[in-house]
Amino acid sequence: MFPDRVVSGMRPTGTLHLGHYHGALKNWVKMQSELPCLFFVADWHALTTHYDDPSIIEKSTWDMLIDWLAAGVDPAKATLFIQSKVPEHAELHLLLSMATPLGWLERVPTYKDQQEKLADRDLATYGFLGYPLLQAADVLIYRASLVPVGEDQIPHIEMMREIARRFNHIYGKEKGFEEKAQEAVNKLGGKRAKTYEELRTAYQERGDEAALEQAKALLEEAQSLSTEDRERLLGYLVGSRKQILTEPQARLTEASRLPGLDGQKMSKSYGNAIGLREDRESVVKKMRTMPTDPARVRRTDPGNPDKCPVWQLHKVYSDEQTKDWVVKGCTSAGIGCLECKQPVIDAVLKEQEPMRERAQKYLDDPSLMRAIVADGCDKARKLAQETMRDVREVMGLSYK
Ligand code: TRP
Ligand code: SF4
Repeated sequence: MFPDRVVSGMRPTGTLHLGHYHGALKNWVKMQSELPCLFFVADWHALTTHYDDPSIIEKSTWDMLIDWLAAGVDPAKATLFIQSKVPEHAELHLLLSMATPLGWLERVPTYKDQQEKLADRDLATYGFLGYPLLQAADVLIYRASLVPVGEDQIPHIEMMREIARRFNHIYGKEKGFEEKAQEAVNKLGGKRAKTYEELRTAYQERGDEAALEQAKALLEEAQSLSTEDRERLLGYLVGSRKQILTEPQARLTEASRLPGLDGQKMSKSYGNAIGLREDRESVVKKMRTMPTDPARVRRTDPGNPDKCPVWQLHKVYSDEQTKDWVVKGCTSAGIGCLECKQPVIDAVLKEQEPMRERAQKYLDDPSLMRAIVADGCDKARKLAQETMRDVREVMGLSYK
């Protein structure tokens, strides 16, 4: 009905690390070649938890955008923008809030989790409760079908699906829907119209799924139908509602989670991270001094790769041959730890090289990036306005 579209966002956290690259950005870069993608900086979402610290938002936003471009997000393929520059997100958030039961928001697991985790902040706020609803607006406003996210975000996607379903149920009830649908059936023409009616009956009376599929195919093929009539007839097949918002699906990021220098999940707050475009000397130094299997006190002590964070990095960065070499060399004390680290150090530097290069262009001339983002904001805004026109209309706000 609506073209497949991908939407995802990140809160502005400042410069990113290689964990963000392996956990999210690599996936974005892959998807941008497959489908139309919109990627945005969720600056309002940052304010839901850090409303008392607005000074960091703007710099974090630009730093993060440079990192996206450095990672290979390509503005010629994907649309990059800043959430607050498309105020329609806020309008949809408000309108959705009218029909969103409080219980849905209170039950989202991140609500209590984050309140406990960020205990130093007062998160008993209206804005924080609305976090997932704002996120729903971010996605639904583009009628996106796919949302690449990590596992922790699945409940948010579930909730936005419910929100879309409920919205269509309440507001998809078009005045005179049955009559308009009947007129559209007539427009299909004698034989086709008859087949459509038969298939619809087969599905509605006997739950015949094959008939439903056949009817959808029939509508695809009926070229003379207007988009509106096609949407009506699709809705008429399954019930008596027009589909105004699309129910999106989560696209889980492949589980290639990059461990940090100490073997725990890579995170800025654990101090175990390697920056996406950290300079070479600093990367080499961090990796040369990173811990290894504590049992290898002397060079002659054999080690166990499973107890070593360097081995976890080999699992991400090394080929089979190198990994063989590590296991044999480590368990027999045949290689030293510095020697063992070298292939990983080389691989990380090699991965970062094109990122540093791409970033340099934007660091030298920040106006380039601002132009990309201004253009992205315009494009996103046009799409958002299209949806808002429909939303306002069904909610009685079109004032024609
Ligand atoms: N909540 C997301 C996170 O913390 C960020 C986000 C905001 C988002 N809006 C979104 C992600 C819309 C996907 C789609 O990672
Ligand atoms: Fe770790 Fe390699 Fe040293 Fe073994 S040889 S302890 S895997 S760094």
